[in-house]
Amino acid sequence: MKIKLIKIIKEAGELLKDGYYSKKDVTFKAKKDLVTKYDIGIENFLKEKFLAEFKDFNVIAEESDNSNCKFANSIIVDPIDGTTNFVNQVPHICISVGVYKDKKPYIGIVYNPILDELYEAEIGKGAFLNGEKIEVSKEEDFQKALVSTGFPYTSGTCEDDLNDVVNKIKNILPKCQDIRRLGSAALDLCYVARGTYEAYYEMNLKAWDVSAGIIILSEAGGKISTLDGSDYKLFEDKYLLSSNGYVHNSLVSNLK
Ligand code: IPD
Ligand code: CA
Ligand code: CA
Repeated sequence: MKIKLIKIIKEAGELLKDGYYSKKDVTFKAKKDLVTKYDIGIENFLKEKFLAEFKDFNVIAEESDNSNCKFANSIIVDPIDGTTNFVNQVPHICISVGVYKDKKPYIGIVYNPILDELYEAEIGKGAFLNGEKIEVSKEEDFQKALVSTGFPYTSGTCEDDLNDVVNKIKNILPKCQDIRRLGSAALDLCYVARGTYEAYYEMNLKAWDVSAGIIILSEAGGKISTLDGSDYKLFEDKYLLSSNGYVHNSLVSNLK
């Protein structure tokens, strides 16, 4: 299944690349939440191919009405993770595809066609970047950890969420090496998986933002949890915390 998925995702990557270098009309789903015809076009392309090729799976995708799609044997798709980057030609964007069998993680693929970086993992078989095995960093000292985060779209409308973001940064910034906000949750998780970041956290993520990245990160030796350190549940938890594992306890305690 993985080889077929990669072939289809690479074809979709060509559509993403074409869009990236062309002029785009933008529609607003919410105050800060953008969508373009490329998000919809790539999603339709992937859905059509996946449903034709993988008959035992449904597809849950960001720009679709998923009300009739039960999470079970599911391919969870974000056609462009990092749409704000895409619109502004920041090359930190990807297609994210996570496959779940009976709700359990199976395959994760994250593809950035601009930098030609393909991250992939299948449960029990390790994680790879362009065919080379990747592993999390071995850093144990939180003071030396490069931490990534993201700002939820709700920070423009919900004061509680905005205060939570600001307070967490205030707590964590003096205690770590530095903080990054590059604008793609799927790639953030892959950057922890490849050892670039020691940790990444964010609130209000959707299943399609992280469905692939959490599989890739766990196969690279990382840890994923919710705010109190317990297991992260896709579709349910507000906060996702992730790390190389070594700094996880510090991440949890510093975000309290
Ligand atoms: C967004 C990106 C961003 C994160 C947002 C996501 P989108 O996804 O992953 O990094 O901060 O929470 O919604 O809208 O570009 O697919
Ligand atoms: Ca996304
Ligand atoms: Ca998206």
